[in-house]
Amino acid sequence: MKHILITGASSGIGKSLAQLYAQQGWQVIAGGRNQQALNELVAQFENITPLVADLCDESAVIEAAELLPSLDLLVLNAGSCEYIDQPLTFDSAVFQRVINTNLMTVAYCLNHWLSKIKQGGQLAFTSSSASFLPLPRAQAYGASKAALSYLAKTLSIDLAPHNIDVSLINPGFVQTPLTQKNDFPMPGSVSSEQAAHAIFNGLTKRRHIINFPSVFTSIMSMFALLPFSWWRLFAIRYLVRKTS
Ligand SMILES: NC(=O)c1ccc[n+]([C@@H]2O[C@H](COP(=O)([O-])OP(=O)(O)OC[C@H]3O[C@@H](n4cnc5c(N)ncnc54)[C@H](OP(=O)(O)O)[C@@H]3O)[C@@H](O)[C@H]2O)c1
Repeated sequence: MKHILITGASSGIGKSLAQLYAQQGWQVIAGGRNQQALNELVAQFENITPLVADLCDESAVIEAAELLPSLDLLVLNAGSCEYIDQPLTFDSAVFQRVINTNLMTVAYCLNHWLSKIKQGGQLAFTSSSASFLPLPRAQAYGASKAALSYLAKTLSIDLAPHNIDVSLINPGFVQTPLTQKNDFPMPGSVSSEQAAHAIFNGLTKRRHIINFPSVFTSIMSMFALLPFSWWRLFAIRYLVRKTS
């Protein structure tokens, strides 16, 4: 039986991915802090095991490593999003929280769990299509995901001789608790189940980059090809909130 560990599996994309892999007969280790949510998942599938840990706490990541089996696939998906609403009074506490959750947790997991991936195994990172372009209010989230994408791509090169395939996952908008609080349109948004299928298909094909939904992420990729001065003008005109 194949083993997968998914972080951030107590809700949203990670939860749907855990359910899909469990349906496919994999032995799933589902990570998160919310024990009740993980218990509900475990009650649905006998091949899901909970891993309750706050990944911002490195000692919890070290403790978890002692219990982990050899892994065929490690999906580092846990993350959060907070916007910087007042650029003039830049909130470094928000920045620190987002960087810790989206980036430092990944560093801890790599440090202590990478050795658990089998020869021929896979490692995947959930970044975001927000990393393609500088978006208003996304100073913290976008910076964390841009850094995560760079990290994933460099590891994709450095882990190739060690027979570990790395996949970088760039979702567009997905309807999850993370985006429920968004008070702006989310073009092309998909359900977490659709997201899970796109990720599952990409990982099964061992794609190095998994972008979805295709229309939205292709448009974002095309905008990213524009000179920054053009994108900047477009974003100021159409995306920045007007203060009254
Ligand atoms: N939804 C979107 O439109 C979208 C788009 C692009 C990228 N993404 C990325 O997709 C990933 C999943 O997001 P989602 O939309 O599914 O959000 P979500 O429903 O809010 O899920 C986030 C998951 O991360 C876990 N998590 C957060 N902080 C953690 C911590 N310190 N330790 C352990 N687990 C932690 C949460 O678990 P607990 O609450 O149980 O701790 C939860 O399971 C994130 O990396 C996000 O940036 C999402």
